[in-house]
Amino acid sequence: MEPNMVNLKINDIPVTVPEGTTVLEAARSAGFKIPSLCFLKDINEIGSCRICVVEVKGARSLMASCVYPVSEGMEVYTNTPKVRHSRQLSLELILSNHRMDCLTCARNAHCELRDLAADFNIDAVRYANDLMVPQIESSALHLVRDNSKCILCRRCTAACRKYQSVGVIGPNDRGFMTHIGCAFDRDLAESDCVSCGQCLVACPTGALSEQDSIPEVMEALHDPNKHVVIGPAPSVRVTLGECFGMPVGANVEGKMVSALHRLGFDKVFDVDTAADFTIMEEGTEFLERLQNGGALPMITSCSPGWIRFCEQHYPEFIPSLSSCKSPQQMFGALVKSYYAEKAGIDPKDIYVVSVMPCTAKKYEVKREEQRMANGCMPVDASLTTRELARMITQAGMMFDHLPDGEFDPMLGISTGASVIFGATGGVMEAALRTVAAKLMGDDNAPLEFHEVRGIKDIKEATYELPGRTVRVCVASGLANAKIVLDGIKSGELSYDFIEFMACPGGCVNGGGQPLQPSMVRSFTDLRTLRAQALYKQDEGMAHRRSHESPVVKEVYESYLGEPGGHKAHELLHCTYVPQTRYRT
Ligand code: FES
Repeated sequence: MEPNMVNLKINDIPVTVPEGTTVLEAARSAGFKIPSLCFLKDINEIGSCRICVVEVKGARSLMASCVYPVSEGMEVYTNTPKVRHSRQLSLELILSNHRMDCLTCARNAHCELRDLAADFNIDAVRYANDLMVPQIESSALHLVRDNSKCILCRRCTAACRKYQSVGVIGPNDRGFMTHIGCAFDRDLAESDCVSCGQCLVACPTGALSEQDSIPEVMEALHDPNKHVVIGPAPSVRVTLGECFGMPVGANVEGKMVSALHRLGFDKVFDVDTAADFTIMEEGTEFLERLQNGGALPMITSCSPGWIRFCEQHYPEFIPSLSSCKSPQQMFGALVKSYYAEKAGIDPKDIYVVSVMPCTAKKYEVKREEQRMANGCMPVDASLTTRELARMITQAGMMFDHLPDGEFDPMLGISTGASVIFGATGGVMEAALRTVAAKLMGDDNAPLEFHEVRGIKDIKEATYELPGRTVRVCVASGLANAKIVLDGIKSGELSYDFIEFMACPGGCVNGGGQPLQPSMVRSFTDLRTLRAQALYKQDEGMAHRRSHESPVVKEVYESYLGEPGGHKAHELLHCTYVPQTRYRT
């Protein structure tokens, strides 16, 4: 049904927008940018910071445009002296208890508060509180909180609750004492936090940042006794460019590989290659369960945030989880076994670094059940996309000037199936490509499964495979996973195979991805643009099914044996177990 249209004037210019549009959105459509701070579209629309106020003719007070809906005949003014004075005053009050160490702040050039202060020409704060001291909470493996930089906008708490239905952070105390934290001010490490980092990418200031893994990686690079190997995750190649001012969705794989070589890594391999092994193992496991009996639905295990959520909130579904390690962990396991043997290097001398779209990967690399039989942890350090960008900048590289480089081939050749892992539905499609081909033959099996593509919260599809109808489901964002799991528990939903990703839209929108300000996050479809770049790369690949990869063939033939076989199991699988559930 067509929406009713509303006519109004913004700064005396006639504007027509659908009913229900906010003044902020209407102004945007007319080319007027209204500053905002607490606003994050569909996630945090609480009108609390008052930076976005406007004058509305006939209204007694200034109105918060981010939550104020348009009405017929409304006349709005976005830039009057009264509006400017109010916004400036609100900003000064927010800054009055902010620890202004911008020069050394982790957020530095990406701080929305600092940008606003510059826009408003604030060069001194009349109400400054000199007593603000760091309030560091760094108990979790992935995240650091410093509440002396928090502006109480609630964007982090809203992301935690609405995207993830986890809700482990919220306001504590009252009045001037109000601060964001876990219930009873417990450490984050003693909460049900799944480490996804969605709070971090929602935060407009330096109050939240990832645990910095750069120093330990640099130390390894400078250690002559270490053989340092790195591999980036599928989605990193379509997001890293944003850290260097490139358009959203730019694929910078070649420049990224050049940068990694120039940073001094001994080998630059590709986590995409490991993703192909994930499909070989997961596809085999699914077929085994389908044909010979086993826990269905089978649920993917690539996302450590999802795994932790399952272990804490839905332990009854642990038998349904694929026993496959995530691509990150398979990558490390293959480097410290197959590659170590072929290269004649003691696995204990190899230091493996991953570049991930995800802060939960920092938690995953420390999980004890990932330890290999040779005593090594598969991955030694996990960097986010942002950390890699910082390393490149610190090394003085002009990223956009870099030539295209190539991955080292031994574990650096991959397929289109692995490339699409970075988007929600990508793991499912990659698995279906191989499963269908195994059942129907490469020539008869479909190659693309468009039903599981796109950023819809929950996607379902049914496929007729020889001898069996297969019902699949794909959901991203743990709030959506919860809907699916509750539906299965109540008997309303039934599937054979499910892909869950903790972050909404999948890894392209992970908590380790480049920071974008609220206005970009609210009005640019980051997830689709980034995912499209992955599907485009997939289309151009020489091989688009994991089992066609020459590396996959070689490694199984010369080292692992059969997919799902004993050695593959020992290296590429693990066991998930119920985790402590903290009461909030
Ligand atoms: Fe509108 Fe904060 S009140 S952005």
